[in-house]
Amino acid sequence: MRIVLVGFGNLGKGLSRAFIQKAGFLRKTHGLIPRVVAAVDEFGAAVDEKGLNLAGLLKTAEKRGTVAAYKGGKRGKLALKVIEDVEADVVYDLTPTNIKTGEPGLTHIKRAMLAGKHVITSNKGPLVVAFKELDSLARRCGIEFRYSASVGGAVPVIGLARKLLAGNEIREIRGVLNGTTNYLLTRMSTEGAPFEIVLREAQELGIAEKDPTLDIEGIDTACKITILANSILGVNAKLKDVKITGITRVRSEAIRLAREAGQVIKLVGVARQGLLEVGPKLIPVGHPLAVSGTLNAVTFELDLAREISITGFGAGPKETSSSLLGDLIDIHRTLGG
Ligand code: HSE
Repeated sequence: MRIVLVGFGNLGKGLSRAFIQKAGFLRKTHGLIPRVVAAVDEFGAAVDEKGLNLAGLLKTAEKRGTVAAYKGGKRGKLALKVIEDVEADVVYDLTPTNIKTGEPGLTHIKRAMLAGKHVITSNKGPLVVAFKELDSLARRCGIEFRYSASVGGAVPVIGLARKLLAGNEIREIRGVLNGTTNYLLTRMSTEGAPFEIVLREAQELGIAEKDPTLDIEGIDTACKITILANSILGVNAKLKDVKITGITRVRSEAIRLAREAGQVIKLVGVARQGLLEVGPKLIPVGHPLAVSGTLNAVTFELDLAREISITGFGAGPKETSSSLLGDLIDIHRTLGG
């Protein structure tokens, strides 16, 4: 499969490493040979229709700060030109999230669809701003559109709900969906560590958003709740429909008192018909949502299966490449590969 990578930050690099490490596995197990024919970042692009040498590309991008420095690379704002002109089967949009405009990812995704290319994204911005529009454009263009990595990082929240739980009515989705706040609350709970210091650590771990107020004010979780409501519950929700309370007012004292009562405080997102909300909640120790550190967890309330919970790593380039690769394999299978 010919692939265009748009965005060569942590996730683009993580996915490229996974392509290198798993080349033999993908070929043997799935009959899939991913060929990255172009990589684009904010400074330029590298294109090779025979397939870029990913090890060389990674080395150049790490050393020189852009894929444009790779041999034959070009400088400039080239994303749209590459998306439209380079022959490819799949475009990955791995650009950073902008929750106000959805850009630049929104335009990348639309242009790729209109050019007849399948799309995989991790970018919450376009999904929050224009979920229905993108979903119907994908249908109209007859292309596959996947976004597993946008919620839960490595945790297959969307795939589990849409595929394996498809026989159920999903009554409610509750989740700890933000690794940064979970890390903060855990460290404050176990060590009484101060908020500002732990936040700095979360930034150093590379899990916090570029603007970490999006994490701590609950907006990142609200984006994920919006995406889950749209993609799983089939409602037409926008970010403004989510009632949001962050964790800025959660004090160490409250965490200590909760702990004494056998509870932990978690930032929980809830989605059901007629209610979308995010806020700190008391969870009993031992409950599936009482996960610690950077983990994410989701519980589905269902008519047949009653309750199903999953947990795993919700952020990080290596972990998230699990979902990004899973989406590619899913498209490959859907197309009969
Ligand atoms: N900032 C997000 C988190 C990254 O902490 O979970 C993954 O969406």
